[in-house]
Amino acid sequence: MKPITITSHSYKETLALGARLAKVFRPGDILCLFGDLGAGKTAFTKGVARGLRIDPHHVHSPTFTLMNIYEGRLSVYHYDLYRISADDLLGMGYEEFFYGKGLTVIEWSERLGPLLPKAYWKVELRHGGEDSRRIILSAEGEGPLARLGDLRRLTGP
Ligand SMILES: Nc1ncnc2c1ncn2[C@@H]1O[C@H](COP(=O)(O)OP(=O)(O)OP(=O)(O)O)[C@@H](O)[C@H]1O
Ligand SMILES: [Mg+2]
Repeated sequence: MKPITITSHSYKETLALGARLAKVFRPGDILCLFGDLGAGKTAFTKGVARGLRIDPHHVHSPTFTLMNIYEGRLSVYHYDLYRISADDLLGMGYEEFFYGKGLTVIEWSERLGPLLPKAYWKVELRHGGEDSRRIILSAEGEGPLARLGDLRRLTGP
């Protein structure tokens, strides 16, 4: 299936998009975020959190821990591989979370290397002009692929 491409014109729009899409996420889903510094990965994550009834103000990339956990409609496990390595993930027994009952959100998924899951939602954020970002949504693996149509409907008018 073709990826879904959306242009966001502001931080708020990126957050709102994440919030809208959160409906489609189910226990055990993995959201892999790709994109440069300042592309809007954390903004999108805050939006997803809001959509799951988690206060977005509580959402920050982990600094002193390997991941942050937020509790909403789903538990969210928030990772940021800018700050930790795939080796750190291995050391913490990451499988329990990646393949558990919550929603795993990973910033800087470029750095997952061989730990990239077989099935995941792919969110690529690319800089456009100053406040514009191109957001490309796609799915890898059976579960998410079967629900990409649902995700597409959520992005519609
Ligand atoms: N359309 C947009 N969507 C998201 N953020 C935007 C947009 N336009 C401008 N911005 C700005 O870009 C920055 C995005 O920050 P954010 O922390 O979400 O990025 P990030 O991809 O998580 O970066 P990092 O890799 O440093 O964690 C913010 O300063 C925000 O105000
Ligand atoms: Mg970030």
